Amino acid sequence: MLNGKKILLCVTGGIAVFKAAALTSKLTQKGAEVKVILSESAAKFVTPLTFQVLSKNDVYTDTFDEKNSKVVAHIDLADWADLVLIAPATANVIGKLANGIADNMLSTTCLAVTAPVYIAPAMNVHMYAHPAVQKNLQTLANYGYRFIEPGEGYLACGYVGKGRLEEPETIVDILEFETSAEKPFKGKKVVITAGPTREKIDSVRFLSNHSTGKMGYAIAEAARDFGAEVVLISGPVSLSAPTGVGMIQIESAEEMYQAVLHEFEGADLVIKSAAVADYRPKTAYDYKVKKLPGEQLLELERTKDILFELGKIKTSQVLVGFAAETDHLEEYAKGKLERKNADMIVANNVKSEGAGFGTDTNIVTIFKRNGDPIELPLLAKKDVAQRILKEALTFFKDDLNENC
Ligand code: PMT
Repeated sequence: MLNGKKILLCVTGGIAVFKAAALTSKLTQKGAEVKVILSESAAKFVTPLTFQVLSKNDVYTDTFDEKNSKVVAHIDLADWADLVLIAPATANVIGKLANGIADNMLSTTCLAVTAPVYIAPAMNVHMYAHPAVQKNLQTLANYGYRFIEPGEGYLACGYVGKGRLEEPETIVDILEFETSAEKPFKGKKVVITAGPTREKIDSVRFLSNHSTGKMGYAIAEAARDFGAEVVLISGPVSLSAPTGVGMIQIESAEEMYQAVLHEFEGADLVIKSAAVADYRPKTAYDYKVKKLPGEQLLELERTKDILFELGKIKTSQVLVGFAAETDHLEEYAKGKLERKNADMIVANNVKSEGAGFGTDTNIVTIFKRNGDPIELPLLAKKDVAQRILKEALTFFKDDLNENC
Protein backbone atom coordinates (compact mmCIF):
# COMPACT_ATOMS: atom_id res chain seq x y z
CA MET A 1 0.00 0.00 0.00
CA LEU A 2 2.95 2.30 0.49
CA ASN A 3 4.44 1.08 -2.76
CA GLY A 4 5.22 4.09 -4.96
CA LYS A 5 4.12 6.59 -2.29
CA LYS A 6 6.31 9.66 -2.01
CA ILE A 7 6.98 10.11 1.68
CA LEU A 8 8.74 13.15 3.08
CA LEU A 9 10.21 12.14 6.44
CA CYS A 10 10.97 15.13 8.67
CA VAL A 11 13.26 14.23 11.54
CA THR A 12 13.69 16.54 14.53
CA GLY A 13 16.28 16.35 17.26
CA GLY A 14 15.81 13.91 20.10
CA ILE A 15 17.32 10.61 21.10
CA ALA A 16 14.60 8.81 19.11
CA VAL A 17 16.30 9.93 15.87
CA PHE A 18 17.95 6.51 15.76
CA LYS A 19 14.48 5.00 15.29
CA ALA A 20 13.90 7.33 12.34
CA ALA A 21 16.81 5.63 10.58
CA ALA A 22 15.08 2.25 11.00
CA LEU A 23 11.83 3.86 9.88
CA THR A 24 13.49 5.12 6.67
CA SER A 25 14.70 1.63 5.94
CA LYS A 26 11.28 0.03 6.62
CA LEU A 27 9.46 2.57 4.45
CA THR A 28 11.81 2.02 1.52
CA GLN A 29 11.47 -1.76 1.94
CA LYS A 30 7.70 -1.26 1.50
CA GLY A 31 8.41 0.36 -1.87
CA ALA A 32 7.91 3.97 -0.76
CA GLU A 33 10.17 6.68 -2.15
CA VAL A 34 11.52 8.47 0.89
CA LYS A 35 13.15 11.89 1.08
CA VAL A 36 14.44 13.10 4.42
CA ILE A 37 14.74 16.53 6.00
CA LEU A 38 16.81 16.64 9.17
CA SER A 39 16.66 19.53 11.60
CA GLU A 40 20.09 20.79 12.68
CA SER A 41 19.72 19.13 16.07
CA ALA A 42 18.58 15.83 14.53
CA ALA A 43 21.82 15.83 12.51
CA LYS A 44 23.75 15.92 15.80
CA PHE A 45 22.27 12.55 16.79
CA VAL A 46 22.57 10.72 13.45
CA THR A 47 24.44 12.02 10.41
CA PRO A 48 22.69 12.94 7.14
CA LEU A 49 24.82 10.29 5.43
CA THR A 50 22.94 7.52 7.30
CA PHE A 51 19.62 8.78 5.94
CA GLN A 52 21.06 9.36 2.48
CA VAL A 53 22.24 5.75 2.28
CA LEU A 54 18.98 4.32 3.67
CA SER A 55 16.70 6.48 1.50
CA LYS A 56 18.96 6.54 -1.56
CA ASN A 57 18.09 10.22 -1.90
CA ASP A 58 19.66 13.56 -1.02
CA VAL A 59 19.07 14.65 2.56
CA TYR A 60 18.09 18.24 3.34
CA THR A 61 19.13 20.20 6.41
CA ASP A 62 19.72 23.79 5.29
CA THR A 63 17.14 26.06 3.59
CA PHE A 64 19.90 27.77 1.63
CA ASP A 65 21.63 24.61 0.43
CA GLU A 66 19.83 24.55 -2.94
CA LYS A 67 20.80 21.29 -4.63
CA ASN A 68 18.98 22.03 -7.90
CA SER A 69 19.14 25.54 -9.34
CA LYS A 70 15.91 24.96 -11.33
CA VAL A 71 13.69 24.71 -8.24
CA VAL A 72 13.31 26.18 -4.75
CA ALA A 73 14.05 23.17 -2.56
CA HIS A 74 11.53 23.64 0.26
CA ILE A 75 8.63 24.31 -2.14
CA ASP A 76 9.69 21.53 -4.47
CA LEU A 77 9.83 19.01 -1.62
CA ALA A 78 6.49 20.20 -0.23
CA ASP A 79 4.86 19.77 -3.66
CA TRP A 80 6.55 16.40 -4.26
CA ALA A 81 5.23 14.66 -1.13
CA ASP A 82 2.13 12.44 -1.12
CA LEU A 83 2.47 12.24 2.63
CA VAL A 84 4.61 13.93 5.27
CA LEU A 85 5.69 12.19 8.45
CA ILE A 86 7.36 14.11 11.26
CA ALA A 87 9.10 11.50 13.41
CA PRO A 88 10.32 12.03 16.00
CA ALA A 89 8.48 15.31 16.52
CA THR A 90 9.90 17.33 19.40
CA ALA A 91 7.94 19.80 21.53
CA ASN A 92 9.88 22.48 19.65
CA VAL A 93 8.68 21.57 16.14
CA ILE A 94 5.13 21.02 17.42
CA GLY A 95 5.20 24.53 18.90
CA LYS A 96 6.61 26.02 15.71
CA LEU A 97 4.02 24.40 13.42
CA ALA A 98 1.14 25.29 15.73
CA ASN A 99 2.24 28.91 15.55
CA GLY A 100 3.17 29.11 11.88
CA ILE A 101 6.87 29.63 12.53
CA ALA A 102 9.11 28.85 9.56
CA ASP A 103 12.73 29.40 10.58
CA ASN A 104 14.57 26.42 9.11
CA MET A 105 14.38 23.97 6.21
CA LEU A 106 12.09 21.57 8.04
CA SER A 107 9.52 24.03 9.40
CA THR A 108 9.52 26.09 6.19
CA THR A 109 8.82 23.01 4.09
CA CYS A 110 6.10 21.76 6.46
CA LEU A 111 4.31 25.10 6.22
CA ALA A 112 4.22 24.80 2.42
CA VAL A 113 2.86 21.24 2.40
CA THR A 114 -0.70 20.50 1.25
CA ALA A 115 -0.45 16.68 1.54
CA PRO A 116 -1.58 14.91 4.75
CA VAL A 117 0.89 15.40 7.62
CA TYR A 118 1.37 12.79 10.36
CA ILE A 119 3.11 13.78 13.56
CA ALA A 120 4.74 11.16 15.80
CA PRO A 121 5.75 13.00 18.99
CA ALA A 122 8.60 11.85 21.23
CA MET A 123 9.70 13.63 24.38
CA ASN A 124 9.89 13.47 28.16
CA VAL A 125 6.63 12.47 29.85
CA HIS A 126 6.25 15.82 31.66
CA MET A 127 7.01 17.79 28.50
CA TYR A 128 4.34 15.82 26.65
CA ALA A 129 1.80 16.47 29.39
CA HIS A 130 2.63 20.19 29.62
CA PRO A 131 -0.45 22.32 28.88
CA ALA A 132 1.48 24.36 26.29
CA VAL A 133 2.40 21.22 24.32
CA GLN A 134 -1.12 19.82 24.65
CA LYS A 135 -2.56 23.15 23.47
CA ASN A 136 -0.23 23.14 20.46
CA LEU A 137 -1.20 19.55 19.62
CA GLN A 138 -4.85 20.54 19.82
CA THR A 139 -4.22 23.48 17.49
CA LEU A 140 -2.51 21.17 15.00
CA ALA A 141 -5.39 18.68 15.27
CA ASN A 142 -7.77 21.52 14.43
CA TYR A 143 -5.62 22.34 11.38
CA GLY A 144 -6.09 18.73 10.21
CA TYR A 145 -2.73 17.19 11.19
CA ARG A 146 -2.92 13.50 12.15
CA PHE A 147 -1.05 11.96 15.08
CA ILE A 148 0.75 8.76 15.83
CA GLU A 149 0.55 8.80 19.60
CA PRO A 150 3.72 8.15 21.59
CA GLY A 151 3.89 4.86 23.43
CA GLU A 152 4.39 4.39 27.16
CA GLY A 153 7.46 2.86 28.70
CA TYR A 154 11.05 3.55 29.69
CA LEU A 155 12.27 6.90 28.34
CA ALA A 156 15.89 7.75 27.58
CA CYS A 157 15.72 10.54 30.19
CA GLY A 158 15.19 7.91 32.89
CA TYR A 159 11.46 8.43 33.39
CA VAL A 160 8.83 5.81 32.73
CA GLY A 161 5.68 7.12 31.04
CA LYS A 162 4.13 8.36 27.83
CA GLY A 163 6.58 9.93 25.41
CA ARG A 164 8.38 7.15 23.51
CA LEU A 165 8.36 7.42 19.75
CA GLU A 166 6.09 4.66 18.48
CA GLU A 167 8.03 1.68 17.12
CA PRO A 168 8.96 1.98 13.39
CA GLU A 169 6.99 -1.22 12.53
CA THR A 170 3.86 0.24 14.15
CA ILE A 171 4.29 3.58 12.40
CA VAL A 172 4.57 1.78 9.06
CA ASP A 173 1.43 -0.28 9.90
CA ILE A 174 -0.50 2.86 10.77
CA LEU A 175 0.55 4.60 7.57
CA GLU A 176 -0.36 1.52 5.55
CA PHE A 177 -3.79 1.43 7.15
CA GLU A 178 -4.35 5.17 6.73
CA THR A 179 -3.31 5.20 3.09
CA SER A 180 -5.07 1.96 2.34
CA ALA A 181 -7.27 1.99 -0.71
CA GLU A 182 -9.71 -0.12 1.29
CA LYS A 183 -12.63 2.23 1.88
CA PRO A 184 -15.44 -0.26 2.44
CA PHE A 185 -17.79 2.42 3.78
CA LYS A 186 -17.33 4.76 0.83
CA GLY A 187 -20.69 6.34 -0.02
CA LYS A 188 -22.22 5.27 3.30
CA LYS A 189 -23.49 7.57 6.01
CA VAL A 190 -22.72 6.38 9.53
CA VAL A 191 -24.34 8.01 12.56
CA ILE A 192 -22.68 7.36 15.91
CA THR A 193 -23.74 8.41 19.40
CA ALA A 194 -21.15 8.77 22.15
CA GLY A 195 -20.64 9.93 25.70
CA PRO A 196 -23.12 10.45 28.51
CA THR A 197 -26.29 12.50 28.67
CA ARG A 198 -27.02 15.03 31.38
CA GLU A 199 -30.50 15.25 32.84
CA LYS A 200 -31.13 18.55 34.52
CA ILE A 201 -32.27 18.70 38.14
CA ASP A 202 -31.91 22.47 38.54
CA SER A 203 -29.67 25.23 37.20
CA VAL A 204 -26.56 23.76 38.88
CA ARG A 205 -27.24 20.01 39.20
CA PHE A 206 -27.81 17.10 36.84
CA LEU A 207 -27.95 13.30 36.66
CA SER A 208 -25.32 11.64 34.47
CA ASN A 209 -22.90 8.68 34.23
CA HIS A 210 -19.21 7.89 33.76
CA SER A 211 -19.08 7.65 29.96
CA THR A 212 -16.09 9.55 28.53
CA GLY A 213 -17.01 9.11 24.86
CA LYS A 214 -13.76 7.19 24.12
CA MET A 215 -15.58 4.19 22.65
CA GLY A 216 -17.89 6.24 20.43
CA TYR A 217 -15.16 8.63 19.27
CA ALA A 218 -12.96 5.65 18.34
CA ILE A 219 -15.81 4.25 16.23
CA ALA A 220 -16.28 7.64 14.55
CA GLU A 221 -12.57 7.84 13.65
CA ALA A 222 -12.51 4.26 12.35
CA ALA A 223 -15.65 4.84 10.26
CA ARG A 224 -14.07 7.99 8.81
CA ASP A 225 -10.90 6.04 7.97
CA PHE A 226 -13.05 3.38 6.29
CA GLY A 227 -14.37 6.09 3.99
CA ALA A 228 -17.77 6.80 5.57
CA GLU A 229 -19.48 10.15 5.88
CA VAL A 230 -19.67 10.31 9.67
CA VAL A 231 -22.01 12.20 11.98
CA LEU A 232 -21.03 11.98 15.64
CA ILE A 233 -23.73 12.94 18.12
CA SER A 234 -22.00 13.46 21.42
CA GLY A 235 -22.91 14.19 25.00
CA PRO A 236 -20.60 16.42 27.06
CA VAL A 237 -17.06 14.92 27.07
CA SER A 238 -13.56 16.35 27.21
CA LEU A 239 -12.36 14.74 23.95
CA SER A 240 -11.64 16.91 20.93
CA ALA A 241 -13.81 16.56 17.88
CA PRO A 242 -12.19 14.11 15.44
CA THR A 243 -11.15 15.76 12.19
CA GLY A 244 -13.25 15.01 9.14
CA VAL A 245 -16.31 14.09 11.17
CA GLY A 246 -19.59 16.04 11.43
CA MET A 247 -20.22 16.86 15.10
CA ILE A 248 -23.50 17.48 16.87
CA GLN A 249 -23.20 18.32 20.57
CA ILE A 250 -26.15 17.53 22.80
CA GLU A 251 -26.78 17.42 26.55
CA SER A 252 -29.95 15.50 27.40
CA ALA A 253 -31.46 12.20 26.23
CA GLU A 254 -34.27 14.16 24.59
CA GLU A 255 -31.77 16.30 22.63
CA MET A 256 -29.91 13.15 21.57
CA TYR A 257 -33.19 11.60 20.44
CA GLN A 258 -34.05 14.66 18.33
CA ALA A 259 -30.56 14.79 16.78
CA VAL A 260 -30.50 11.06 15.94
CA LEU A 261 -34.00 11.24 14.48
CA HIS A 262 -32.95 14.16 12.27
CA GLU A 263 -30.00 12.15 10.87
CA PHE A 264 -31.75 8.78 10.72
CA GLU A 265 -33.48 8.85 7.37
CA GLY A 266 -30.34 9.30 5.27
CA ALA A 267 -28.23 6.99 7.43
CA ASP A 268 -26.99 3.57 6.34
CA LEU A 269 -25.63 2.56 9.72
CA VAL A 270 -26.40 3.84 13.21
CA ILE A 271 -24.20 2.84 16.15
CA LYS A 272 -25.50 3.75 19.59
CA SER A 273 -22.53 3.61 21.91
CA ALA A 274 -23.73 6.51 24.08
CA ALA A 275 -24.67 5.86 27.69
CA VAL A 276 -28.11 7.45 27.62
CA ALA A 277 -29.93 8.17 30.87
CA ASP A 278 -32.99 5.96 31.32
CA TYR A 279 -34.60 8.44 33.71
CA ARG A 280 -34.71 12.19 34.15
CA PRO A 281 -36.11 14.37 36.94
CA LYS A 282 -39.83 14.89 36.44
CA THR A 283 -39.37 18.58 37.17
CA ALA A 284 -36.26 20.58 36.21
CA TYR A 285 -35.85 23.91 37.98
CA ASP A 286 -34.33 27.00 36.35
CA TYR A 287 -32.85 28.14 39.65
CA LYS A 288 -30.70 26.51 42.31
CA VAL A 289 -32.98 24.54 44.60
CA LYS A 290 -32.30 25.41 48.24
CA LYS A 291 -31.50 22.66 50.68
CA LEU A 292 -34.15 22.02 53.29
CA PRO A 293 -33.97 20.10 56.52
CA GLY A 294 -34.60 16.36 56.23
CA GLU A 295 -34.70 14.02 53.27
CA GLN A 296 -35.69 15.01 49.75
CA LEU A 297 -37.31 12.82 47.15
CA LEU A 298 -36.39 13.26 43.49
CA GLU A 299 -39.21 12.10 41.27
CA LEU A 300 -37.99 10.58 38.01
CA GLU A 301 -39.67 9.82 34.73
CA ARG A 302 -38.51 7.63 31.84
CA THR A 303 -36.59 9.16 28.97
CA LYS A 304 -37.23 7.86 25.46
CA ASP A 305 -35.36 4.68 24.67
CA ILE A 306 -33.76 5.98 21.47
CA LEU A 307 -32.59 2.59 20.20
CA PHE A 308 -36.03 1.13 20.78
CA GLU A 309 -37.68 4.04 18.92
CA LEU A 310 -35.27 3.65 15.98
CA GLY A 311 -35.93 -0.11 15.90
CA LYS A 312 -39.62 0.66 15.38
CA ILE A 313 -39.12 2.98 12.39
CA LYS A 314 -36.04 1.56 10.69
CA THR A 315 -36.27 0.72 7.01
CA SER A 316 -32.93 -0.06 5.33
CA GLN A 317 -30.73 1.25 8.17
CA VAL A 318 -28.46 -1.18 9.99
CA LEU A 319 -28.92 -0.60 13.71
CA VAL A 320 -26.17 -1.40 16.19
CA GLY A 321 -26.72 -1.01 19.92
CA PHE A 322 -24.45 -1.46 22.89
CA ALA A 323 -25.23 -3.25 26.13
CA ALA A 324 -23.45 -2.18 29.29
CA GLU A 325 -23.93 -5.02 31.72
CA THR A 326 -22.54 -6.11 35.06
CA ASP A 327 -23.99 -9.65 34.98
CA HIS A 328 -25.92 -12.08 32.72
CA LEU A 329 -24.20 -10.46 29.71
CA GLU A 330 -25.45 -12.88 27.07
CA GLU A 331 -29.02 -13.06 28.31
CA TYR A 332 -29.44 -9.28 28.58
CA ALA A 333 -27.62 -8.54 25.31
CA LYS A 334 -29.80 -11.01 23.39
CA GLY A 335 -32.87 -9.52 25.06
CA LYS A 336 -31.87 -6.05 23.83
CA LEU A 337 -31.23 -7.37 20.31
CA GLU A 338 -34.82 -8.67 20.14
CA ARG A 339 -36.70 -6.03 22.11
CA LYS A 340 -35.04 -3.06 20.41
CA ASN A 341 -35.12 -4.68 16.95
CA ALA A 342 -31.38 -4.08 16.54
CA ASP A 343 -29.23 -5.91 13.98
CA MET A 344 -26.25 -6.19 16.27
CA ILE A 345 -25.53 -5.65 19.97
CA VAL A 346 -22.03 -4.98 21.28
CA ALA A 347 -22.02 -6.09 24.88
CA ASN A 348 -19.41 -5.11 27.43
CA ASN A 349 -19.20 -6.22 31.02
CA VAL A 350 -18.44 -2.86 32.59
CA LYS A 351 -17.25 -4.55 35.79
CA SER A 352 -14.33 -6.29 34.03
CA GLU A 353 -10.91 -4.69 34.33
CA GLY A 354 -9.97 -2.85 31.13
CA ALA A 355 -13.56 -2.79 29.88
CA GLY A 356 -16.36 -0.24 29.76
CA PHE A 357 -16.31 3.31 31.06
CA GLY A 358 -13.26 5.55 30.83
CA THR A 359 -10.65 2.98 29.83
CA ASP A 360 -8.60 3.08 26.60
CA THR A 361 -9.43 -0.59 26.08
CA ASN A 362 -12.57 -2.68 26.01
CA ILE A 363 -13.64 -6.32 26.08
CA VAL A 364 -16.75 -6.91 24.00
CA THR A 365 -18.90 -9.72 22.69
CA ILE A 366 -20.83 -9.07 19.49
CA PHE A 367 -24.30 -10.58 19.16
CA LYS A 368 -26.12 -10.88 15.85
CA ARG A 369 -29.41 -12.63 15.13
CA ASN A 370 -27.71 -15.45 13.25
CA GLY A 371 -24.50 -17.16 14.19
CA ASP A 372 -22.55 -17.57 17.37
CA PRO A 373 -21.56 -14.63 19.57
CA ILE A 374 -18.18 -13.18 18.63
CA GLU A 375 -16.06 -12.83 21.74
CA LEU A 376 -13.17 -10.38 21.40
CA PRO A 377 -10.21 -10.25 23.76
CA LEU A 378 -9.01 -7.12 25.57
CA LEU A 379 -8.28 -4.65 22.75
CA ALA A 380 -7.61 -0.93 22.38
CA LYS A 381 -10.92 0.86 21.77
CA LYS A 382 -9.72 1.81 18.28
CA ASP A 383 -9.26 -1.88 17.45
CA VAL A 384 -12.65 -2.73 18.96
CA ALA A 385 -14.09 0.03 16.77
CA GLN A 386 -12.62 -1.51 13.62
CA ARG A 387 -13.93 -4.96 14.52
CA ILE A 388 -17.43 -3.58 15.14
CA LEU A 389 -17.40 -1.85 11.76
CA LYS A 390 -16.12 -4.95 9.99
CA GLU A 391 -18.96 -6.96 11.53
CA ALA A 392 -21.49 -4.25 10.59
CA LEU A 393 -20.15 -4.46 7.04
CA THR A 394 -21.55 -7.98 6.68
CA PHE A 395 -25.01 -6.37 6.56
CA PHE A 396 -24.02 -4.54 3.37
CA LYS A 397 -22.94 -7.70 1.54
CA ASP A 398 -24.04 -6.50 -1.90
CA ASP A 399 -21.81 -3.44 -1.69
CA LEU A 400 -18.77 -5.30 -0.39
CA ASN A 401 -17.24 -6.32 -3.68
CA GLU A 402 -17.71 -2.90 -5.23
CA ASN A 403 -15.76 -0.91 -2.67
CA CYS A 404 -13.22 -3.33 -1.16
O1 PMT B 1 -17.66 6.33 26.72
P1 PMT B 1 -16.63 5.38 27.32
O2 PMT B 1 -16.05 5.90 28.62
O3 PMT B 1 -15.60 4.95 26.32
O4 PMT B 1 -17.44 4.05 27.76
C1 PMT B 1 -17.98 3.23 26.77
C2 PMT B 1 -19.37 2.70 27.19
C3 PMT B 1 -19.23 1.82 28.43
C4 PMT B 1 -20.32 3.86 27.49
C5 PMT B 1 -19.91 1.87 25.95
O5 PMT B 1 -19.02 0.82 25.70
C6 PMT B 1 -21.30 1.32 26.23
O6 PMT B 1 -21.49 0.26 26.80
N1 PMT B 1 -22.36 2.08 25.80
C7 PMT B 1 -23.77 1.76 26.06
C8 PMT B 1 -24.16 2.21 27.44
C9 PMT B 1 -25.61 1.96 27.73
O7 PMT B 1 -26.37 2.88 27.90
O8 PMT B 1 -25.99 0.69 27.71
P2 PMT B 1 -27.49 0.16 28.04
O9 PMT B 1 -27.32 -1.30 28.16
O10 PMT B 1 -28.04 0.92 29.18
O11 PMT B 1 -28.32 0.56 26.75
C10 PMT B 1 -28.50 -0.34 25.66
C11 PMT B 1 -28.52 0.43 24.34
O12 PMT B 1 -29.69 1.26 24.32
C12 PMT B 1 -27.33 1.32 24.10
O13 PMT B 1 -27.01 1.26 22.73
C13 PMT B 1 -27.86 2.70 24.46
O14 PMT B 1 -27.20 3.73 23.71
C14 PMT B 1 -29.31 2.61 24.09
N2 PMT B 1 -30.19 3.46 24.89
C15 PMT B 1 -30.28 3.32 26.23
C16 PMT B 1 -31.15 4.12 26.95
C17 PMT B 1 -31.94 5.08 26.25
N3 PMT B 1 -32.77 5.86 26.91
N4 PMT B 1 -31.82 5.19 24.93
C18 PMT B 1 -30.98 4.40 24.23
O15 PMT B 1 -30.87 4.51 23.00
